[in-house]
Amino acid sequence: MASVYSEKVMDHFINPRNVGEIENADGIGEIGNAKCGDIMKMYIKVENDVIVDVKFKTFGCGSAIATSSMATEMIKGKTIAEALTLSNKAVVEALDGLPAHKIHCSVLAEQSIRAAIADYYRRRGIDPEPIVGKTMTDEEIEACHI
Ligand code: FES
Repeated sequence: MASVYSEKVMDHFINPRNVGEIENADGIGEIGNAKCGDIMKMYIKVENDVIVDVKFKTFGCGSAIATSSMATEMIKGKTIAEALTLSNKAVVEALDGLPAHKIHCSVLAEQSIRAAIADYYRRRGIDPEPIVGKTMTDEEIEACHI
């Protein structure tokens, strides 16, 4: 049977990059989708505004694991400003697509990165909202689940 998943999705699902935790992370973001029960936790290490390291733990479906893996690869070594431009759509494109009913999984990757960056600013006593924008509410994240 032909897989509905691209080779890249399968590769990142079977061999996810940057799995784990960062001790003394500068920012941690945790996002869950209450509808499917999946949770993603993102850790970032920041030096001079550059994300020098990023790791994730995903308790979730294969698409959530593949998108978080790809997303970490896409922001590692990038500035915070660059990381903030990363959309779930770009992650899906980099994975050569996802089935429509799995697009919501990529939202967790995008949002957990934004949450980790917001946490980074909060720890430094800086209001993240003017920089990061509004992070999605639980209801908005849940609504992404189709
Ligand atoms: Fe929940 Fe994929 S089914 S994140």
